[in-house]
Amino acid sequence: MTWPPSIANAMANNKAFTLAVANLKGGCGKTTISTNISAGLTQRGRVGLVDADPQGALKHWVDWGSKEADAQVPVLYSDHTDPVQNLKLAQPNHDFVVVDCPPSLDMAITCQLMIECDFVLIPVLPSPLDLWASTQTIDMIERARKTNPKLKAALVLNQTEPRSAMSRAMQTTIERLGVPVLTTSVRRRAVYRNAVVEGVSVFQLGARGRSAADEINQILNEVIPS
Ligand SMILES: Nc1ncnc2c1ncn2[C@@H]1O[C@H](COP(=O)(O)OP(=O)(O)O)[C@@H](O)[C@H]1O
Ligand SMILES: [Mg+2]
Repeated sequence: MTWPPSIANAMANNKAFTLAVANLKGGCGKTTISTNISAGLTQRGRVGLVDADPQGALKHWVDWGSKEADAQVPVLYSDHTDPVQNLKLAQPNHDFVVVDCPPSLDMAITCQLMIECDFVLIPVLPSPLDLWASTQTIDMIERARKTNPKLKAALVLNQTEPRSAMSRAMQTTIERLGVPVLTTSVRRRAVYRNAVVEGVSVFQLGARGRSAADEINQILNEVIPS
């Protein structure tokens, strides 16, 4: 496999491409997106997954997933109570590291994680209210950039409906936030919920998961530098 030069360089330098999935608001899809993009990345390289949420839900997901004989599962880093330490442990061993960030209780930790990362992906539900609620997360990215000026960021709309046009209010809000939005959004699909229940990602669900897996791959194509 030929990697784009920036990825090849990152690998040669033994430095993982590190992606934080963050939004201080709960329920916007951080864990759903972290699990599925990390599963998608296993087709591109070695993947570590850091569970920075103190609830530790990813442990159950990875344990279940590894029971599937041919499942590609990311390596979970959750042993230390300090997620930044877990991230630092994961980085030298993988080509990609995905961090499922905690909700607002742990604001200081999220900021420290952002300082260590290459990219912050911010899932948001497609409503102006949810976009406004992301302002705090975006302010935090600005703070992290004082130490980590190369930090990139993008919003990704989650739970979109097929034919709902983006309202004017949403477009205006997105422009004001000053963070780009990925062209690909994550549709509301029962298969994302079912995958969690079955302890797999949408990549292990065959035809049932194909459309979801395709959109996750498109998101990765937008996020991973070429
Ligand atoms: N694209 C989607 N389609 C259907 N259900 C989704 C989707 N994204 C998230 N969900 C569901 O929404 C709920 C919250 O998502 P979750 O990933 O746990 O958010 P967070 O980690 O930000 O708190 C979960 O029940 C999850 O299964
Ligand atoms: Mg979560």
